[in-house]
Amino acid sequence: MSAQILDGKRLAAALRQQIKKEVDDLRKTRGLVPGLAVLLVGDDPASQSYVRGKEKASAEVGIHSVVEHLPGDLAEEVLLEKIDRYNSDPAIHGILVQLPLPGHISQDRVIHRISPEKDVDGFHPWNVGRLYSDGEGFIPCTPAGILEMVHRTGVDVAGRHAVVVGRSRIVGRPVAQLLLRENATVTICHSKTRDLPGLTRQADILVAAVGRPRLITADMVKPGAVVIDVGVNRVDGRLVGDVDFEPVAEVAGWITPVPGGVGPMTITMLLSNTLWSAKRTGK
Ligand code: GUN
Repeated sequence: MSAQILDGKRLAAALRQQIKKEVDDLRKTRGLVPGLAVLLVGDDPASQSYVRGKEKASAEVGIHSVVEHLPGDLAEEVLLEKIDRYNSDPAIHGILVQLPLPGHISQDRVIHRISPEKDVDGFHPWNVGRLYSDGEGFIPCTPAGILEMVHRTGVDVAGRHAVVVGRSRIVGRPVAQLLLRENATVTICHSKTRDLPGLTRQADILVAAVGRPRLITADMVKPGAVVIDVGVNRVDGRLVGDVDFEPVAEVAGWITPVPGGVGPMTITMLLSNTLWSAKRTGK
């Protein structure tokens, strides 16, 4: 293997120590404890596991978290009222509604109801707009984690060709925007893209976020590239990414593993966003 592994678990642990220290300082100097409300509707096993991870990570760094596990047939209006309550609760600095929501609840109505000042997911249109207009706002957690990992390689993003495979609102589009903000030349590929391999082979930085197991094969990767795998696919009970890891690691310069790559960074960025929110609004 020639690639260096970008160890998300290790990087996340180091960042969480730093966050913990800042949370301690905030408590000691201002008597302020960052608070995070997490709302989970229904009992999708993957969502339950993500929410447990968020709860545990919050506790580890001293963030006060409130997790509400709500029934899958919950009326949309009840969820919206709960959001209203957290919006006006001074002990809560971040609100996260776990997605996906059951079909009878409008994701957009829910996201729009969260106060933009507590929207630690960065999904509210105000925060989306701030990201696209170079303003200061919440940056979605997975894209923020990806950027941290790219920085860790020491590769200067400016002027590089970054190719993002996937155009989701949660990952593909915001990560493309973040890379553009750092002066990369950015190409976004998606299901209608012609000659995907021809484009990915040009990538100095390649982000795979489509949810197709092992889509990115070694012949699609430029030698020495930074390869970030956002895929979380379950194949025969095993977790595999969107990148065909072993063969691609022979070609790439840097690569993130699955699991243990982007995943641990996502939760870390949620903690960081919650801390930032408390610092800004908690006076
Ligand atoms: N479901 C999958 N990823 C996410 C995320 O980043 N935030 C929320 N709220 N739900 C998700």
